[in-house]
Amino acid sequence: MKLVVLAWFVLAVTAVKHELFKTCAQSGFCTRQRHYANHVSTSHYAIDPKSISISTDKVEAQLIKKWPGHSIAFPISIHGIVGNQLRVIIDEDRSSAQGETGLVNPRRYNETGKWAFNGGQVETQAFKSAKVQKNQLVIEYGEHSRAEIDLAQFVINFFYDGELELSVNENNYLNIEHWREEDEADEDGNLMAEELDFDLFSDSFKDSAADSVPVGPESVALDFQFKKHHHLYGIPEHSDQFRLPSTKGGEPFRLYNVDIFEYETSSRLPMYGSIPFVIAPGSSSVGVFWVNAADTWVDIDYNDEGSHTHFMSENGVVDFIVTIEPKVADVNRQYGKVVGNTMLPPLFSLGYHQCRWNYNDEADVLDINSKFDEHGIPYDTIWLDVEYADRKHYFTWQEDKFPNPGRMARKLDRIGRHLVVIIDPHLATGYFASEELIDDGSEMKNSKGETFKGHCWPGESVWVDTLNPKGRAFWAFQYQRFLSNYTTKNVHFWNDMNEPSVFDGPETTAPKDNLHFGNWEHRSIHNIYGLTLHEATYSTINDGDERPFILTRSYYAGSQRTAAMWFGDNLPTWEHLRTSVSMLLTHNVVNYPFVGVDIGGFFGDPSPELLTRWFQTSIFYPFMRQHAHLDTRRREPWVAGGVYTDAMRNAIRLRYSMLPIWYTAFHQSALTGVPVVKPMFYEVNDDAVMEIEDQFFVGDSGIMAKPVMDAGANKVKMYIPQGQHKYIDYTDGDFGSSVKVYQPGTTATIGAPITSIPMVVRQGSAFFRKRRYRRSTRLMAQDPYTLTIVVDDNGNAHGRLYIDDGHSFSYKQGEFLELEVTATASAITVDVVSQDSSDANYSAQLAAMVEIDQIQVVSASGFADVSSVSADSGADTHYVIDGSVMTITAHHPISQSMTLTISRDVVDEL
Ligand code: NOJ
Repeated sequence: MKLVVLAWFVLAVTAVKHELFKTCAQSGFCTRQRHYANHVSTSHYAIDPKSISISTDKVEAQLIKKWPGHSIAFPISIHGIVGNQLRVIIDEDRSSAQGETGLVNPRRYNETGKWAFNGGQVETQAFKSAKVQKNQLVIEYGEHSRAEIDLAQFVINFFYDGELELSVNENNYLNIEHWREEDEADEDGNLMAEELDFDLFSDSFKDSAADSVPVGPESVALDFQFKKHHHLYGIPEHSDQFRLPSTKGGEPFRLYNVDIFEYETSSRLPMYGSIPFVIAPGSSSVGVFWVNAADTWVDIDYNDEGSHTHFMSENGVVDFIVTIEPKVADVNRQYGKVVGNTMLPPLFSLGYHQCRWNYNDEADVLDINSKFDEHGIPYDTIWLDVEYADRKHYFTWQEDKFPNPGRMARKLDRIGRHLVVIIDPHLATGYFASEELIDDGSEMKNSKGETFKGHCWPGESVWVDTLNPKGRAFWAFQYQRFLSNYTTKNVHFWNDMNEPSVFDGPETTAPKDNLHFGNWEHRSIHNIYGLTLHEATYSTINDGDERPFILTRSYYAGSQRTAAMWFGDNLPTWEHLRTSVSMLLTHNVVNYPFVGVDIGGFFGDPSPELLTRWFQTSIFYPFMRQHAHLDTRRREPWVAGGVYTDAMRNAIRLRYSMLPIWYTAFHQSALTGVPVVKPMFYEVNDDAVMEIEDQFFVGDSGIMAKPVMDAGANKVKMYIPQGQHKYIDYTDGDFGSSVKVYQPGTTATIGAPITSIPMVVRQGSAFFRKRRYRRSTRLMAQDPYTLTIVVDDNGNAHGRLYIDDGHSFSYKQGEFLELEVTATASAITVDVVSQDSSDANYSAQLAAMVEIDQIQVVSASGFADVSSVSADSGADTHYVIDGSVMTITAHHPISQSMTLTISRDVVDEL
């Protein structure tokens, strides 16, 4: 009986409501574009050679769509852009639509880049040359790249170092549904033979049947054939495997930001965010960014040559950027020049976050706060969900429960703790904020240009239009007034439900024919709405002094510049735990590393085993937060008790001790766009790793982890990649009493009882940790560092450390320190590599406060021949050798370079 009830409960909670969301067959444009792709055999598009005009960084021309009796011209432009990338834009002259589209802006929406690109635009880069040769336009750009555009067929071939890497429109899937009026469409169809007329001017899906489709069919689609790449990744957000599966014969992946609660695993359904960037690693690596914010479906397929994608968007311009580089990390670096890299997060936000829906009142918050200390568990941030606000009227408090929020924030601040409160974009009708918004006129409008009203948590609500500069100013004013009561700077914000979630809207979101600033339909901007909201929050609370922290649920390419995100309303299942890691890797390869998922699952109650394993996995989430639904039981780390609580405590403490590694990795990612949590193929050259999605590297530390994500497991099988390096067991961040060495190209079986987190370190690596337990990151600031060096068979290793104050922007003025560690058989050098005159003061302060107190050197071959270790500073240096581990005690100021000389006995060779 118990089992039956349990099974029913699990089923009851795992039911995503499929019927709320369209399948491709229920989406007019997806059906039409797939049909076109299945039937087209020859290109209907050609560039008119006479129309071509070439300048230093741009080619402009007319692209002609032709079929019997019809010819329609589309302006096309090809741009050289920063980072040796090429951008192609195809627009439409819609002057004949003027006055025919009601209130709607008749143009195709071409401002996605304004939001996605760092600084709102992309820097151009001159071509090396551009000329028309025979029937081709040939553009040489960057050092190694060339694009050849076949004018008659409109196929673009991209070459790197003379090798063909990518063909665009090779399968003739380019299809732009041109402007036409409904009556025109009836006669000869105004359609090509390969086109369908399904839902051209209406929407037959039951929940969106009210869509007035004022512009008619206007979708765009195009295919990309990757010539040598058999593995594709990216296009989040989906709860699916890391390597994108083929969609042949099934549903395409959909990018349409929706409130998909109780989502399933192995699913191509849309989720809360969208990044239309696909990345193909290999001996050369290719990235394609489809710059479009409308509802988008993507088909993926693998073939003998490589792999294939078909992007289909409901409207907007065709706009894409191609990046080709030898290494996959270089694709991230170049793409990052367009959309920006992750912010450097404030250090506290890399600590542990405790959230639930809801902590009830001030006493509850302060009780949870002190329980962490009673249980010896570090944490940095406590969160308040919607119930803190009076009737969920954001920018207010329930005064009987939170009589003095400023006092509560001050109490938390005393030991460096932070408070995050939720503020959603829906404002209940009938209170000051919504009334001020409507008075201001900067709310989202319906298709008739009136205030749009829908339902969300507080009941009937209106939505701020943060595409509107006035909407952003309104948003800023609300925050400023709300924050004016606080004297501390430890209050931060969580923007949830910003897809936007509309409970009574089609597919849980806003009607597509709603209107935004500029008379753009919601249809055109849907996937960037969430970004415009959290960016508005960021610019409001950014005082230029403290680094803001914001969590967003909805996102687009570029969101990484200003907000962390999490994967929404997951379930307490082992599948969801495993999916969280695949999704984590996916976001990392599209330059969005600051992500995480609700530890333990949002709905329902995880078993103590699952919760413990989830905590252990979550120490590898850049954003590490426990959160749970209103109806769940409490599950703070001390609730399970016994061995479970011990294991969770150890996991969180391990995370804190590794914060120098995380912070260094974030700094690197902020500079270069590389992942923080790295899929294996970033670090090793081994075909066998391309589908591994449960094992990864942490930054450049050389630490590779494989957390336990299976029920009842007490060991993991970890793949040790091929190559010249061996790996050393580092389970729980410890080398154990006898060092275990794993050989390349093997599978290591690593014991993992409920208390254990399997990790290994690649030989040749060095990293820093802080090992003392403190209650929060702020209290760790002056703690000493332990330097760990795992040398290779020749005694060599290399590593880095980045430090700054962890909270302000002064690092931008040079107040930071970067150390480089180099070990050889005879010396260990710690070099201060970045220190200019402006940070001398900072370095001096650091030198007085923080030291390296221990250096742990690990060598598979041991240290039997070491006869002495001496410091160039002349300081006393004690060392102890215990088999393969040599522990050197030092008291070395962190911001001074040093060299330790290791003398070894010379063994006479006979
Ligand atoms: C939906 C979010 O995904 C969830 O985390 C939150 O608790 C609820 N909204 C209530 O605010």
